Amino acid sequence: MKAKNCLIFGGSGQIGSFLIRKLTKNNIKVTVVTRNVHQKGLKIKTQGNAGYIDIKEANIFEEKKIETLFKDADFCINLIGILYEKKKGNTFRNIHTVFPTILAKLCKKYNLKHFIHVSALGINEATDSKYAISKLEGENNILNNFPKSTILRPSIVFSNSDNFSTQFMTLLNRLPIFPLYYSGKTKFMPIHCTDLTEIIYFILTNKVETQVIECVGPEVLTFKEILQILLGLINKKRFLLPFPTPIAKLTAKFLQLMPKPLLTEDQLRLLKYDNISSGKYKTNFEIGVPSKLFFKDEVEKYSFMWRDGGQFSTNRYKSEGFKK
Ligand SMILES: NC(=O)c1ccc[n+]([C@@H]2O[C@H](COP(=O)([O-])OP(=O)(O)OC[C@H]3O[C@@H](n4cnc5c(N)ncnc54)[C@H](OP(=O)(O)O)[C@@H]3O)[C@@H](O)[C@H]2O)c1
Repeated sequence: MKAKNCLIFGGSGQIGSFLIRKLTKNNIKVTVVTRNVHQKGLKIKTQGNAGYIDIKEANIFEEKKIETLFKDADFCINLIGILYEKKKGNTFRNIHTVFPTILAKLCKKYNLKHFIHVSALGINEATDSKYAISKLEGENNILNNFPKSTILRPSIVFSNSDNFSTQFMTLLNRLPIFPLYYSGKTKFMPIHCTDLTEIIYFILTNKVETQVIECVGPEVLTFKEILQILLGLINKKRFLLPFPTPIAKLTAKFLQLMPKPLLTEDQLRLLKYDNISSGKYKTNFEIGVPSKLFFKDEVEKYSFMWRDGGQFSTNRYKSEGFKK
């Protein structure tokens, strides 16, 4: 069977790497667009089978260059997203609203079979977050311009190469006290990257007409429960200190000045809202792709890197002469 061609934007990130592996193993050729081939080329190249990956360099403002890539594409997937605004041009609006709209228009112009856009869960509710507003506006523009699109709204996505479980384990390792925002009560349904890529693959290979799908893991965990699981896995005891909102806001004001902010005021506003399925849209469970991987079981597989002594430190030789 002739391999299908899939054009992927943001393929060098966490979800992109898992996705390239899944697609190329299953006879789908990918063209991955990155801003910097020298920086990301090796990482992208090594994710897939030889002959199945093509890499192109372009940034989101090079509209003409991007348009040429649509001529041979059957599908388009957009994984580009940011958590905080930084340099000039890299605004939530440009990245989550304007760019996805351009992609949807190109999908229409070149009559692609399907456009999959990864958005985020809980954006209807978080009306005071710039991140959420830009994601929601992007979704609406996509569906208006190219109805053969599917919007995926994942809860927190985790894996051994995330910026979430790994970063929290690093912080929990170093800090004696850890802040709990909103008393740690915000709920999440963490989904493993493998489960999320199964959903994307399912949509590419089946006739899925649902336009918005909430992508959630198999369990609901509060922020505090997530921290407690991570502490248990790295075998550390830490004081989880509830931060009153005014103090939390003040810390966010300072933290967002860092080159890679640990927390911004906008993220703090987002954290107020539960990040769980809303009941208003279908979830991956309802379209027939249930998530199977549980947070604790999966993080346990790589948490040893943050544990004193590493992976094998509890093992002891049991044979005679080595008992001591
Ligand atoms: N991870 C989560 O927990 C989570 C949860 C909900 C929704 N999402 C959404 O899922 C999508 C993918 O997430 P991810 O975790 O795979 O993200 P990621 O690891 O941060 O990767 C995103 C990719 O986007 C590209 N990118 C970043 N900033 C860019 C910019 N200013 N201009 C152009 N390209 C830029 C980068 O590719 P190059 O450097 O190669 O250009 C990067 O590899 C995002 O839209 C995100 O909002 C993620």
